[in-house]
Amino acid sequence: MIWYRIAAFCALLGVSWCTEDWTFPPGFKFGAATSSFQVEGAWNVSDKSQSIWDKFVHDKPDVIADCSNADVSADSYHLWETDVEKAAELGLNFYRFSISWPRLLPSGFANYTSEDGKRYYNNLIDGLLAKGIEPMVTLFHLDLPQTLQDLGGFTNPLIADWFADYARVAYSLFGDRVKIWLTINEPIMICDLAYNTAIMAPGVLSPDHGTYLCNKYILLAHAKAYRVYENEFKAMYQGEVSIANQLMWYEPEREADADLAELGRQYNTGRYSHPIYSKEGGWPPAIEKLIEENSLKKGFLTSNLPAFTQEEIELIRGTYDFYALNYYMSFTVRTASEGEDVGSYPLYGIPDLNAVFGHREEWTATNLTGFYLNPEGARRQMAWLKKNYDDMKILITENGYPNLGGLDDHDRIAFYQALFKQLILAIKEDGINLTHYTAWALMDNFEWTNGYSVKYGLYQVDFADPLRTRTARASARYYANVIKTLTISAES
Ligand code: NOJ
Repeated sequence: MIWYRIAAFCALLGVSWCTEDWTFPPGFKFGAATSSFQVEGAWNVSDKSQSIWDKFVHDKPDVIADCSNADVSADSYHLWETDVEKAAELGLNFYRFSISWPRLLPSGFANYTSEDGKRYYNNLIDGLLAKGIEPMVTLFHLDLPQTLQDLGGFTNPLIADWFADYARVAYSLFGDRVKIWLTINEPIMICDLAYNTAIMAPGVLSPDHGTYLCNKYILLAHAKAYRVYENEFKAMYQGEVSIANQLMWYEPEREADADLAELGRQYNTGRYSHPIYSKEGGWPPAIEKLIEENSLKKGFLTSNLPAFTQEEIELIRGTYDFYALNYYMSFTVRTASEGEDVGSYPLYGIPDLNAVFGHREEWTATNLTGFYLNPEGARRQMAWLKKNYDDMKILITENGYPNLGGLDDHDRIAFYQALFKQLILAIKEDGINLTHYTAWALMDNFEWTNGYSVKYGLYQVDFADPLRTRTARASARYYANVIKTLTISAES
């Protein structure tokens, strides 16, 4: 322990000689991630139906920074073998990808399964396993079948059953080979970001109701899918299931803002975690109170946050085998002054909090996507999870560094190094049971409203080239070294 204190101190001072033994524990696993809509392309081949993102980018190209779409994207539908080769070149222990719901179940419902969808994901899974790479599979990463959106999507309570049916199909087709499942990726993007701004699909602006209805029913959808695995597949396949939450670490701007920062954590992390991971289940009490008060102030007769029944609380509580954490950004928080604009939060306003968000000067200023990176925030966030919930296994299921591209991405390498130090400190100093790290992304892809203008890839993709050539960046070589040596310092 003492060694790591010294090392942490040296790191703070920027002294490199005393940090040379920064190593991950043996058995620690490294992976990289992508998602179906962002890399597959082939949006209308075979019997695949339209997803809400297909429709959104086609109907509203102006909302996307470079007016692009993901019709072809990195073309992983045709180039999955190249992706597997690249994953093997890196020495990845696992590859995280998502299944496109409208590719596997074109109607959205379980009445009909696409042979083409089955073939595609079977090939990808088998291809990975043949190279000794474990598949980590997300069932739903934002690309909802439009057929289900037409029926209300995640604001319709029945979505929970439709999703559970889809999950059952996926578990029965692939569960013999897939042992780590993520039900839903980043519900906060699907509910808060989408319904608060309409700048994400489905493009419906409904901050008072859409956000909170979606919040409730997406948790029920996750829970039902978890229970399907637990009751019907776990004994046979021994896999593990969780939901991937994007957590933003909030720090008080001044001491006086400490309570507000904690309320912010409960608002963003707690609303999607407390019902699942806390001992008592249900909404975080402080948030239940806050939203009820705000709803009444706005003239509504009841809270906009729909209540859970006791049965629902029990259904959701405990539906995890580990915590799946997507960590990117940190913010400072302070109370808004009288009349100050609270809608200017870099991603979306959170009027319910009456808070103004900012950053500290020392945080990595990659404000390309409107946010600041703070490697220490990852460590603090994990300590917060351990304190507030269980001392559970944590998997970082996404983390990455955006820039404008180029092969010599030493800025990305510097970020990874700083981040990995914090992870090692979390494991060795704070006793966090962190077992996996996932880099976003294996390769450049369609970055939602940023289109192709922002790059996260370890591999560059040439989107002007019909072959969508993938080229390793400096960070790919660096990451391969980290995986091989379990140390953070080797840059090749
Ligand atoms: C989180 C999302 O899961 C992923 O789709 C996105 O591309 C990355 N963050 C980077 O913004």
